[in-house]
Amino acid sequence: MNLNKHVIEEFLSFQKNEITESIVYNKLAAIEKDSNNRKVLQQIALEEKQHYDVLRQFTERDVTPDKRRISKFYWLARMFGITFAIKLMETGEISSYKGYAQYPDIPELVRLAHDEETHENKLISLINEERLEYMDSVVLGLNDALVEFTGALAGFTLALSDSKLIALTGSITV
Ligand SMILES: [Fe+2]
Repeated sequence: MNLNKHVIEEFLSFQKNEITESIVYNKLAAIEKDSNNRKVLQQIALEEKQHYDVLRQFTERDVTPDKRRISKFYWLARMFGITFAIKLMETGEISSYKGYAQYPDIPELVRLAHDEETHENKLISLINEERLEYMDSVVLGLNDALVEFTGALAGFTLALSDSKLIALTGSITV
């Protein structure tokens, strides 16, 4: 198929997303404790790699994964749990589904769009909603506490000139 330069560029960026997400899902699978969830993540990782290969048939080029995004989501998963990282991935990224849906006359991309929809549903059912809500409020709570404390400390620093007194007042706030 003859694709114009703009379309090729877009397919290359799809490829980058697919290979990046494939690696992220594999890494998440490696730290997932529940064996069913681990299988789901491994299966999605495999399919994302296959999507990469489908796109590669059009572009005839390889693309490197986004290493920063990989370490970001891996780190988030280690810190706050896998479901938290998945939720952020889902909300923060422009959906692959929408990207592929722009090409209804290329059957391969229609299939990719369908797969992405299936992935999304699998991930949603994998996420334990209760735990997520809990995690969200923990993160928000931590943020609030930190802002309050640093704000208080800054206030005391301005009001007081004795450093021993600032340290003492700070420790009372904690
Ligand atoms: Fe994909």
